[in-house]
Amino acid sequence: MDESAAPILEVAGVTKRFGKFTAVNDVSFQIADGEFFTLVGPSGSGKTTLLRMLVGMEKPTEGALKIRGQTVNDLPPNKRPTCMVFQSLALFPHMTVGKNVEFPLTIRGAGESERRTRAWELLKLLHLDPNRYYNKNVTQCSGGERQRVALARALAYDPDILFFDEPLSALDARLRKMLQKELKDIQRSTKKTFCYVTHSLEEAMVMSDRVAILRAGVIEQIGRPDEIYAAPKNAFVAEFMGEVNLLDITAAGGATANWDTGRKTYPLNLPAPLEPGAARKLLIRPESLRFLKEGETAGNAVPVKILNEFSLGSRIQYHVEVVPGCTLTVERLREERASGEALLGWELADSQILES
Ligand SMILES: Nc1ncnc2c1ncn2[C@@H]1O[C@H](COP(=O)(O)OP(=O)(O)OP(=O)(O)O)[C@@H](O)[C@H]1O
Ligand SMILES: [Mg+2]
Repeated sequence: MDESAAPILEVAGVTKRFGKFTAVNDVSFQIADGEFFTLVGPSGSGKTTLLRMLVGMEKPTEGALKIRGQTVNDLPPNKRPTCMVFQSLALFPHMTVGKNVEFPLTIRGAGESERRTRAWELLKLLHLDPNRYYNKNVTQCSGGERQRVALARALAYDPDILFFDEPLSALDARLRKMLQKELKDIQRSTKKTFCYVTHSLEEAMVMSDRVAILRAGVIEQIGRPDEIYAAPKNAFVAEFMGEVNLLDITAAGGATANWDTGRKTYPLNLPAPLEPGAARKLLIRPESLRFLKEGETAGNAVPVKILNEFSLGSRIQYHVEVVPGCTLTVERLREERASGEALLGWELADSQILES
């Protein structure tokens, strides 16, 4: 977070228990005014529960929630300067697109011309041509169009903070990518604070200024996407980054370890010494692995069999087998083609020792 910016939202030691079950466990973080902040975590990690507390649909068991310095724990949702866009949309099906977007202005008692002007502006902002969509019924809109209507309506509330609970998860990959960029653009142009929830770290990385990774109700790591990418705190976080190789290793004295592939154990060199017997994961990114030429050496080398290759445009991705049941992912530039049996190598500095 920008240290000079005052936090618009403060979460201090917040816990939520449902009976004996702890869904959110002593979570603390701050969001700066105008920041795009994203919570990432697997299903059941407490993301929705946390958002529900932030918008006032659920009360924390312990801890304090503050908006612009004011404790809001006991404020009902309609008294908070926040608004939530849900995973499953809650649009009014009997209303037109225009009436849906105008709804927040209607309940505030805005006049017809003001409502209409604002709705047209918002529809244009979201690339929904008002001439075509204003009088259309929401039930006649596609999934992607409805997401935009929901977002336009949320913006019409003009909240200080907008919360999003996996708003794009039901959409196909292409539309999702497009709307990710649009959301980021809208956040920039409106200078609103966005707090977004997704289970995709990739999605989070595209849009966010900062990301928090949640596991079983606890924040594992919080930081800028590039910081998290460069230095994931543990294997759980690293696994969220998509295609990475995580090797099960046991330290064997000094900067060496044994890699247990299930069928065979390989001695490896490590980037740093470890206490003998310590069980860790060794992170190696696909682009850090390379096929060694005859006589070429590397920090580590293991014989592999190339199973298949996929084109990623300018790069090729290979799936290679170390032993049956143990495969690695390799990414190389297009011109370095390989097939059959090969010796795979990597430099020690390109590997990272992580806790599980
Ligand atoms: N009202 C409730 N009563 C009891 N348990 C609940 C309640 N709401 C949520 N939980 C539990 O709390 C945990 C966290 O749920 P939550 O909905 O916050 O997860 P999530 O991270 O949003 O998951 P998903 O990605 O699947 O939406 C889950 O184990 C869930 O079963
Ligand atoms: Mg959820």
